[in-house]
Amino acid sequence: MSFNRTLSIIGGAGHVGFPLALAFANKNYNVNIIDLNQKNLNKIKKGITPFYELGAEKILKKSLKSKKLFFSNTLESIKLSKYVIICIGTPINSKMQPKTKVFYNFFYKLFKYINKNHTIIIRSSVFPGIIEKIAKKFKSQNNNISYCPERIVQSKALIELPILPQIISGTSDKAISDSVNLFKKITKKIMISTIKEAEIIKLYSNANRYINFAIANQLYLLCEKQNVSFERVRNLMQIGYERNINLPSAGFSAGPCLLKDTMQLRSFYRGNFELGLAAMKINERNIVDLIIKKVKDIKNYKTKTIGLMGVAFKAETDDTRDSLSIKIIKKLMRIKLKVIYTDEYYSDRKTYEIKTFLNKSDVIIIGAPHKKYKKIKFPKDKKYIDIWNIVKK
Ligand SMILES: NC(=O)c1ccc[n+]([C@@H]2O[C@H](COP(=O)([O-])OP(=O)(O)OC[C@H]3O[C@@H](n4cnc5c(N)ncnc54)[C@H](O)[C@@H]3O)[C@@H](O)[C@H]2O)c1
Repeated sequence: MSFNRTLSIIGGAGHVGFPLALAFANKNYNVNIIDLNQKNLNKIKKGITPFYELGAEKILKKSLKSKKLFFSNTLESIKLSKYVIICIGTPINSKMQPKTKVFYNFFYKLFKYINKNHTIIIRSSVFPGIIEKIAKKFKSQNNNISYCPERIVQSKALIELPILPQIISGTSDKAISDSVNLFKKITKKIMISTIKEAEIIKLYSNANRYINFAIANQLYLLCEKQNVSFERVRNLMQIGYERNINLPSAGFSAGPCLLKDTMQLRSFYRGNFELGLAAMKINERNIVDLIIKKVKDIKNYKTKTIGLMGVAFKAETDDTRDSLSIKIIKKLMRIKLKVIYTDEYYSDRKTYEIKTFLNKSDVIIIGAPHKKYKKIKFPKDKKYIDIWNIVKK
């Protein structure tokens, strides 16, 4: 059988799958992008990137021109590929529990089309143990499953993919050697681990960042209670004192990965992950409560127009998934306040253009601290709620 689409990427129109597809197409692989999101598939086919991703547009146009990209919305087309790479989402529910069944059940559909020649590469961030469970269930059909977690920072995938070491683990030597042969085409350094190690490395990498941000946010909350400037305290703590250098700045720590993966770990260890839980409380609840309190502390706040500046979950992205700004907007609306918003990258029919936004808002909350906001001359007659300290800078 000829594998005329060397690799199929399931979830290939998503934040992890799409840049990966481009990275391989750029190395002359024929890449089959499989995704249920027809709207995004259509955009990609037309040379439009479905979301903000640095450097993607140029490679997309080049790959379309050289006919390296193929498109499908059905799993059946994996028959044409040797490698099947899975990049679908692994969300948690409103109780912060991973939806493992959805991910596991996906493999029942996938394995209808899998044969012994395929090498299956799981790239999604998974609940520990699930790879081995899948491997055991479908062993008689195919024993070449590898787990190669993605560790890029969102929207900089094409910059980071070639430089980040790729962790590779697998259920067989063939799964590992096939995956090494593939990934060494797009990255310099490969590290082999067991599946269990790879699972914990991936999740704890995100938990580590999430907890670190919570350490700064905790200090911010303590400083606020004392009416002391967090920025000054942090600055003075770090001058000539190396041991404090790793203290990040305070801010909104959210998005589709850090919280979710911390909660996946917490769920796996049946709640015995105290630091993870504490970080979630600080980043997700206490910081939001503080912002709402700051709004309510403003005289006549009920008559004010509250402006949220930067609704993406972090700077330099258009992704609003699990954004704290959105959470704050909803909370303010629930208490019947007039809220407007703007963003440098994200737009919908309600987003304001920046000039009108600055004019119309009485109170401005800085959400995502996009680089351009740091250059703005903020009007003096407004109230600011600015955990990032970008207004004063
Ligand atoms: N976003 C990141 O920066 C990042 C970084 C590292 C790891 N991850 C992990 O990678 C995984 C994917 O995350 P993402 O941010 O790319 O999610 P995403 O929602 O942007 O992309 C997932 C894509 O999969 C598609 N999809 C879902 N089910 C499908 C199915 N049955 N068949 C075909 N397509 C299907 C969706 O339509 C979507 O386009 C998650 O496990 C995430 O935790 C994400």
